[in-house]
Amino acid sequence: MADLTLTGKNPSSLKVDVLVVGTCSTSDGVAVVADQLPEAFVRQIETLAPRLGVTGARDEVRRVPAGDGVSAGVVVLAGLGERAADGTFPHEVLRSAAGAATRELAGTDTAALALPAVDEDELGAVVEGALLGAYSYTRYRTGKDTKGAVGSIQVVTTFARSGRAKAAVARAEVLAAAVHGTRDLVNDAPNELFPAAFADAAKAAAKGVKGIRITVLDDKQLAAGGYGGLVGVGQGSSRGPRLVKLSYTPAKATEKVAIVGKGITFDTGGISLKPPASMPTMKSDMAGAAAVLHTVLAAARLGLPVAVTGYLCLAENMPGGNAQRPADVITIRGGKTVEVTNTDAEGRLVMADGLVAAVEDGHDVVLDIATLTGAQMVALGNRTSGVMGTDAVRDEVKAAADAAGEAFWPMPMPAELKAGLRSTVADMVNSAPSRWGGMLFAAHFLAEFVGDTPWAHLDIAGPSYNEGSSFGYTPAGGTGVGVRTMLAFLEGRAGA
Ligand code: BES
Ligand code: MN
Ligand code: ZN
Repeated sequence: MADLTLTGKNPSSLKVDVLVVGTCSTSDGVAVVADQLPEAFVRQIETLAPRLGVTGARDEVRRVPAGDGVSAGVVVLAGLGERAADGTFPHEVLRSAAGAATRELAGTDTAALALPAVDEDELGAVVEGALLGAYSYTRYRTGKDTKGAVGSIQVVTTFARSGRAKAAVARAEVLAAAVHGTRDLVNDAPNELFPAAFADAAKAAAKGVKGIRITVLDDKQLAAGGYGGLVGVGQGSSRGPRLVKLSYTPAKATEKVAIVGKGITFDTGGISLKPPASMPTMKSDMAGAAAVLHTVLAAARLGLPVAVTGYLCLAENMPGGNAQRPADVITIRGGKTVEVTNTDAEGRLVMADGLVAAVEDGHDVVLDIATLTGAQMVALGNRTSGVMGTDAVRDEVKAAADAAGEAFWPMPMPAELKAGLRSTVADMVNSAPSRWGGMLFAAHFLAEFVGDTPWAHLDIAGPSYNEGSSFGYTPAGGTGVGVRTMLAFLEGRAGA
C-alpha cells in the first residue's frame, strides 16, 4: 500500500512528482481551493480554466504544468463540485476527489495532496479516499509498462501534529488495507481461488494479526456435521467446499457479533446453468466472504472492544456428474429441509448453513453479506446495495453505511412473499415460482435460519464488482464494498 504521511509544510515547496490541488465550481467559473499557493499560479489556472476544460466538477481530474513558485513537477487539479452553504465539502466528496486523484497517479513515485479539510474528520476522509484510490491489481501482468499504485503520498494539513489526525491516518491505513485485500481476492482468477485456496489465503492473511483464531472445516467434516447446503452446492466441483470460522475475542468485549459471508468462488449456476454472457463476472461471487475475512482482521488490528466471528461459506457451483439436481432435497445444518428448485439459487443454501452455525455459537447480532441476487441490481442499480432484516439492525446498518460513505438502501420483506417458500415435498424451496421481489424473497429464505437473533442481510450483488470504468476511489473490478460499512457497524457497537 502507498506510504502516507501528514505534512504541515507549504505545498508550493514540496519537491514531489505531482501536487494535487482542489478546484470547485463557483457562480462565475472555477476557484482553486488551496491556501499558500503562489497567487499568480492560482490566478492563471482560474483564468485559463475554460480553455483548459477545467470546470471544478466532482471527480474531474486534470494535469496542468506546475508553473513558477511551485516545486512539484506537475499539478493535478481535482474537482470538488460546489461548496456547501457553510463553505465546506461533504466527506464523501473529499474521499472521492482524493481517490480519483491518487488513481490518476498510478505509476507515479511521489505525490502531495493539498485538499481542503477544516477539521480532523474531513482530513480523515481525504486520507481514506487517497489510500482507497491508490490501488492497482497487477498479479497476472507480465509487461514492463504495468503501472503500480502511487508510491508515497504526503497530505498537506494544518493538523499534521494533532493526535486525532494521526489516529485518523492509522485507522484509514487499516481500513484501506482491508478494502484492498477484499478487492484482491475478488480479482483473483477462479482457477486459482477455489474454496481450499481461499481457506489457505484466509489463514495466511490472519497470520500476522494478533488475537485471531481460525478453524477450517473441509468437505468430509462438513458432511459429517450435516452442513447440507455447502455439501450440496459444492458436490458438482472437483474442488470441495470449506467453512472457515475466524474469531477475534478481546477480553474487554461486551458485545458478540457474527458476520457470515457468501463465498462461491465461481458460480456457473450448476445444472440450472447460467447463459455464457453472465458467467465471467461470477468469479466475484465470493465478495461477501472476502469482505467478512478482512473486516474481522481489521477489527482486530484496530483493537475494537467487540467480539467478532466471521463465517466464510466457501463452495464452487459447477455442473459436474455429481452436481445437485433441480429437485434434490437437502438438509441444512440444524435439520430444516430444502427442495432445490433452482441450482443457481445456491448462495442462500450455503448461507443457511453459515447462519445456523453463527446462531448456534450464540451472538447478540448477526450480519450476513452476499452477492445474492440479480434482483438487487434490478431494484437498486450497480452502486447501491440492499439491506434487509430485523428493523432495528437493518436501520443500524444503513446508518453505519451513511457514516462510512457507502451506498446502502433499506428494503422491506413483504409478508406475502413468504408464500413463495412453500414446497410440495420439503420444508421450503430455494427459488420462488415468481421472480418478482427476488431480493426480498431471498431475505425471507435466509430469515428461516436466524431464529430470534437480531439480524441484517446485505445484498451486494451489483456494487461488489465494477464492470464499468473506475470512478472516484473505486477501481474497475472488485470494489471491496461492505468492509467500511461493517467496520462502522462494529465501531458503533463498540461505542467507539
Ligand atoms: N450469484 C448470483 C447473483 C448475482 C447475479 C450476483 C449477478 C452478481 C451479479 C446468484 O447465485 C444467482 O444466480 N441468483 C439467481 C437467483 C434465482 C435463480 C432465484 C438470480 O438472481 O438470478
Ligand atoms: Mn447462482
Ligand atoms: Zn451466486
